[in-house]
Amino acid sequence: MTDKKMDIIRALKNAGTDPISGEELGQRLGISRTMVWKYIKALGKEGYVIKSSPGSGHVLVSAPDKLYPSEIMDGLDTSIIGGDIRYFDEVDSTNDIAKKMGPLSDEGSVVIAEMQDSGRGRKGGHWVSPRGGVWMSVILKPNVVPAYAPRFTLMAGVAVARTIREFGIEASLKWPNDVLVGDKKVCGILTEMDAETDQINFVVIGMGINVNVSIEDLSEDIRSSSTSLSEIKGEELDRIAFVQVLLRALEDEYIQSKTLGFDSILEEWRSLSSTIGRDVDVVTPQRMISGKAVGITETGTLLVETAEGLEEIVAGSCIHR
Ligand code: BTN
Repeated sequence: MTDKKMDIIRALKNAGTDPISGEELGQRLGISRTMVWKYIKALGKEGYVIKSSPGSGHVLVSAPDKLYPSEIMDGLDTSIIGGDIRYFDEVDSTNDIAKKMGPLSDEGSVVIAEMQDSGRGRKGGHWVSPRGGVWMSVILKPNVVPAYAPRFTLMAGVAVARTIREFGIEASLKWPNDVLVGDKKVCGILTEMDAETDQINFVVIGMGINVNVSIEDLSEDIRSSSTSLSEIKGEELDRIAFVQVLLRALEDEYIQSKTLGFDSILEEWRSLSSTIGRDVDVVTPQRMISGKAVGITETGTLLVETAEGLEEIVAGSCIHR
């Protein structure tokens, strides 16, 4: 959206139910009344309902339920994340776009879409991404070695769980990268990186959150193990507010990891985790490991106490028994 259209929306929002005339909007924005009218019509096409009365002026009746960058950026109080937000109505995968943008983009750039046709999940799986969700990728350029990449998944998990909790829903973390409500998945995280042997060029943190997703729109195989925030709440959430809180939380975690070190994030992860302390079966590429999850290490590996002793698991699918 152009700056002028954003300025018009902002002015109308501030005025609430008081109409603002085209002349006044034009004066404030330094444009003609004809241009104001052109922008008002264009905003209508984007889904903004604006009541225009010849005598009095324009009133914003409603904004569309769209993740427009101008709406997200309006009032977003971050300094690193969200300076550049690329919006797509429909896209193959936000992670793919972010990976292409990565080399030339600023740290903190965001790619967001209303729906994905080929959303990607862990282990090459498909990620079902219907309308109503938040499908988003964030590009970070941390100055760390590639072995630390799993940390960004843990960090994002903490940020998502904290955000969901701010909306009054008790979310927890399941190792390695799921956010659950109860025992059902509401979010998956896919972190990908572009790196040299000793240095990360950038990471793409892809977060798929079933915010206002209707369960019928999920594929049958995941319906019984997944849920959405609107399903839990019994009403739709404000997705713009949700994304703003999430970007803020992610930035807080990121800054905290840089200033205080990763231990503080790990501590938060442990306290939000529903895996630690649970009896688990972890399916790894080699075998299945059963036991009690007792901890997580600073590289993100899971510690499981088994009948044979303590096992450290680098990757696998975890089932809470
Ligand atoms: C998982 O398998 O649990 C991870 C799912 C990650 C999905 C998100 S949606 C936004 C981003 N773009 C993608 O294609 N995948 C991630």
